[in-house]
Amino acid sequence: MNEGIITASYIAASALFIMALGGLAHQESARRGNFYGMLGMGIAVVVTIIGFVENNEFMLIAGIVVGSIIGYILAKRVEMTQMPELVAVLHSLVGLAAVFVGWANALEHDPALTGIALSIHAVETYIGIMIGALTFSGSVMAYLKLSGKVGGKPLHIPGRHLFNIVLGLIALYFMLQYMDTAATGGVLALTIMTIVALIFGIHMVAAIGGADMPVVVSMLNSYSGWAAAAMGFMLGNDLLIVVGALVGSSGAILSYIMCKAMNRKFFNVIFGGIGSKKAGGAGAAGPAGNAEDIRSVESDEAADMLLNAKEVMILPGYGMAVAQAQHTVFEITKKLRDKGINVRFGIHPVAGRMPGHMNVLLAEAKVPYDIVYEMEEINEDFPNVDVSIVIGANDIVNPAAQEVPDSPIAGMPVLEPWNGKQTIVMKRSMGTGYAGVDNPLFYKENTRMLFGDAKERLDQILKVIG
Ligand code: TAP
Repeated sequence: MNEGIITASYIAASALFIMALGGLAHQESARRGNFYGMLGMGIAVVVTIIGFVENNEFMLIAGIVVGSIIGYILAKRVEMTQMPELVAVLHSLVGLAAVFVGWANALEHDPALTGIALSIHAVETYIGIMIGALTFSGSVMAYLKLSGKVGGKPLHIPGRHLFNIVLGLIALYFMLQYMDTAATGGVLALTIMTIVALIFGIHMVAAIGGADMPVVVSMLNSYSGWAAAAMGFMLGNDLLIVVGALVGSSGAILSYIMCKAMNRKFFNVIFGGIGSKKAGGAGAAGPAGNAEDIRSVESDEAADMLLNAKEVMILPGYGMAVAQAQHTVFEITKKLRDKGINVRFGIHPVAGRMPGHMNVLLAEAKVPYDIVYEMEEINEDFPNVDVSIVIGANDIVNPAAQEVPDSPIAGMPVLEPWNGKQTIVMKRSMGTGYAGVDNPLFYKENTRMLFGDAKERLDQILKVIG
């Protein structure tokens, strides 16, 4: 294929990827953003195959077909609640691809490269494999944690900071070794570094506590981008550099936003694990109140409370996603609004299990965007709210974040329904949320617990309201 056509196609694909990111910034344009992304990727794949592939076309096409079928089936089957796990698995594959490409590149490097060009190439290859390996093992660990196959509790080995520093120094030492030996293969240096990076990835994610996992997911997203960019440098492919940089930087920005939303410092999350240090603290242990202070209600009583309110605030969390209750929530919202009751939604930035989880569910159920508010927009309004209804949320409405200094979630901003007149909390038991912390909200005088599956209970409420 003519080089001009390749360049023009790559520029078009890059523009489409940028438009995709722009589209994904708002719910209204997210579908369009996805379409641009798919179109850009389609162009990139076709042009790269036609323009560069000279041998083994059959194997390549067969790989793409098999991979696409597996990807299609997985995406169809995956529940909304398993999305973060799927994303973690996909990040791990990007990391693994970077490792394979890096190793292939190192084993069959261009003999024409000498002197400074060889050194630069060696560094690109080394860093590409390193980021790829830690992205791979870190993402696998994140998948295991998110899916509950490995406990959410942070793993803290004694002297873990020293351990990380030693791993970093080993990686640095072998990079210098590899630069000297790259011309003759440098297999030993690369092997040791790959093992070190794999261990680092596992250790880094294992040390991070439950409530800080959102930051890990977005950080691994960022790493997978940088791994792709490093591959782009290795292969001299401009499009891969651009795409990698876009994913890497947008993931880094998302990590920053997540840290800000949770009042965490990025480096503390990654290397110290703020939540982790306190996970065994008093805040994590035992119930946050007396059993006799728990006041439960039934669905019809809860429906009456809603009907007698003027201002209602709905606070959805992970349990709404589990119960798939968003459509009933919308029906109830519609009915209450028809009766002149002002209904709003308050969304915590880390509600659910992935960024924007609640927004996606509410958009799917056709809840109007203009009644959906971010936490900081509505937190001050709670004193004017007659009834807040917490639907399957826990950590994001936990006053321990403000009241218990040694709680694992201390300092994390939370929604404050207890400042309103009454709160109904819908969940199945007194069980804790993702961070494993008991919730004093459940024992407050103006809180009523409505136990049961959120969907079943909301259906009952809808019947009474209707
Ligand atoms: P959680 O704190 O996990 O609480 C969800 C609650 O929903 C649980 O306590 C559970 O109580 C209840 N529940 C589950 N299934 C239910 C059902 N069918 N019907 C009714 N209730 C049900 O969720 P949250 O408040 O949304 O907070 C999110 C947490 O996840 C935070 O700690 C956050 O850091 C973490 N996290 C977030 C993300 C992102 S990016 N959003 C990613 C990873 C982790 P019962 O068992 O008693 O029913």
